Amino acid sequence: MRRIGILTSGGDAPGMNAAIRAAVRHAIGRGLEVIGIRRGFTGLLAGETIALSRAGVANAIQRGGTILGTSRCEDFLKAKGRARGAAALRERGIDGLVVIGGGGTFHGAELLAAEHRVAVAGVPGTIDNDVYGTDFTIGFDTAVNTALAAIDRIRDTAASHDRLFFVEVMGRTSGDIALGVGVAGGAEDVIVPERHTPLATLADAIRESWQRGKRSSIIVVAESGRPGHVFGLAEEVHALTGLEPRVCVLGHIQRGGTPTARDRILASRLGAAAVDIVVDGGGAMAGEACGEIVRVPLHDAWSRRRATPDDLLTLVRDLA
Ligand code: F6P
Repeated sequence: MRRIGILTSGGDAPGMNAAIRAAVRHAIGRGLEVIGIRRGFTGLLAGETIALSRAGVANAIQRGGTILGTSRCEDFLKAKGRARGAAALRERGIDGLVVIGGGGTFHGAELLAAEHRVAVAGVPGTIDNDVYGTDFTIGFDTAVNTALAAIDRIRDTAASHDRLFFVEVMGRTSGDIALGVGVAGGAEDVIVPERHTPLATLADAIRESWQRGKRSSIIVVAESGRPGHVFGLAEEVHALTGLEPRVCVLGHIQRGGTPTARDRILASRLGAAAVDIVVDGGGAMAGEACGEIVRVPLHDAWSRRRATPDDLLTLVRDLA
């Protein structure tokens, strides 16, 4: 192996740049050339590449977003698209590929590897923390801290006005961000896509807590692939409790910003480990489990579901 490619795909996540930097510098240290592919698989199909040097990734470790750009590429879901992608790699003499992203990215990458014999390694980069085989994905810690800073501010005004607040955080199919900020922010309750919470139960819990003397509450709601659905939920709770809630949707604020130290360290470890996987023939994602670097079969990484941290949900309710 002489030359590898690297791309970021799917939703951007803070720490992706630290992973790019680590992969580039580790690969060069191992005697490889590195080609950056812009805008994920979309850029691969369009032939948008750039040679990456050690200096080319200087001052990237602290930057949010992704210096390579990213996209969600529908064409790559089709065999024809992947064949074009493989041809683009061959034309540039690229024998291996590091892909940084989430489940959708790994699915496409696994098919590319199987159909066109490309050595592919994955790096889990998404704020949602919804990738199997790694304790944390790159960007999750930063997103939780960003959402937490917002919730701390909301708590100030909620307490001043004796108010009930609903705060919607990101998480398409995973409630990990909601549960993280729910525990760390002292929320009254957390609504996640993995578990059904009947509205009547939520309303009863809020009513009871206010009867106990509570004068402000924060309910954290995961977006669950329906951004803004928190407004409807707040309306229904208003009808059931008589309390007049306020709603705040944090949205894409959670995706940007300077990565935390924890995300930079994780990204640096996994970016370097992914290069070693590519050199060894690919087929796996670099993950971190119980503090150790692990190799997770790409197929498992996108097809298997992480366990829901039910203990955190119980804890939020216990401590409310
Ligand atoms: O990257 C994950 C994520 O932020 C999800 O939490 C969210 O549902 C989705 O991406 C939003 O995607 P987009 O930025 O394309 O609207």
